[in-house]
Amino acid sequence: MGEPELSRLDRDEILASLRRMRLLQSATPQIVPLTGGVSSLIVRVDDAGHRFCAKSALPKLNVSADWRVPVRRNRAEVDWMRTAAELVPGAVPTILGQDVEGNMFAMAWLDPDRYPVWKHKLLAGEISIETARQIGAAIGHIHSVTSEKPELAAQFDNGEDFEALRLDPYLRETAKRHDDLGKQLSAIAHRTARTRLALIHGDVSPKNILVGPDGPVLLDAECATWGDPAFDLSFCLNHLLLKSVHMPARAMVLLESLAALLEEYLSRVTWEPVAEFEARAAALLAALALARIDGKSPVEYLRSNEQEMVRDTSRALISRPPTRLIDVVTPFKEILA
Ligand SMILES: Nc1ncnc2c1ncn2[C@@H]1O[C@H](COP(=O)(O)OP(=O)(O)OP(=O)(O)O)[C@@H](O)[C@H]1O
Ligand SMILES: [Mg+2]
Repeated sequence: MGEPELSRLDRDEILASLRRMRLLQSATPQIVPLTGGVSSLIVRVDDAGHRFCAKSALPKLNVSADWRVPVRRNRAEVDWMRTAAELVPGAVPTILGQDVEGNMFAMAWLDPDRYPVWKHKLLAGEISIETARQIGAAIGHIHSVTSEKPELAAQFDNGEDFEALRLDPYLRETAKRHDDLGKQLSAIAHRTARTRLALIHGDVSPKNILVGPDGPVLLDAECATWGDPAFDLSFCLNHLLLKSVHMPARAMVLLESLAALLEEYLSRVTWEPVAEFEARAAALLAALALARIDGKSPVEYLRSNEQEMVRDTSRALISRPPTRLIDVVTPFKEILA
């Protein structure tokens, strides 16, 4: 895989931003892009023997109608990281600086050898139930503590972006493609949008979690909003569920991980009766499973027979949604056993 190119303009902008954050000691730091996208750019910076990471809403060349979204998202991400850092030590990279003007922030560099991406580990069959447990505990704790801080609702009033980035591409798109389930899927999207109980991350996916020596580290909080904690839980469980379909030989340990994450999380649901929470999360899990097949952002690793299995199973669940999360998992488990 070739490294993405950094344009001169991007480099100059990044340099200016790093200088405003007073993070540079040398005049000529090395700046290496890790990923390059339309809305954000992640770079590794090597400066006078010091290595760190910076994420920005560049490149400005891609200015378009939705330019405001990436700009706001960078701020939402730093705000979420700072809040999470206070609640779960080590759960996010240390924030080193923020440059609001350049829509950029800098964070500690977490070396991939010591902090591999959870997704890579899962797909390699290296599945740790303890890691899943720690992730359930971290997310549950963040939800539980923030649910008691209503002042965060105004700081993270990002419902519009959440609609555009999560509900529309996943649930509303799937509703359009499955006419007969349109009513149910739209109702789930609507209920998620209007349930505002805690600070959520919005993208709790194995590709956004590093597995460090002291536990999981969460990244990529661009979708953070004051919203429905059930979304974070179901979004994450869904990834484990889909991986179990894709890796039948590892399915049972993946589903055990799912159950461990769920158990840790549910023991932290303090903001509402657990049964009410679970009913929303169960419907969301079924809907998200179908959305990762037929929404705008399908998972890339499922083969066509695996897609069929998820489609059939989740469709049946959406038309008659169970009230417990584990009952969403059971039909998958029975097929995989
Ligand atoms: N602090 C860090 N230290 C080391 N690597 C990092 C750090 N932050 C991010 N990365 C690497 O960059 C990748 C992308 O980060 P992130 O998910 O925040 O960006 P993104 O633009 O949203 O990317 P994507 O669209 O791929 O999710 C991570 O999976 C990780 O490999
Ligand atoms: Mg990411």
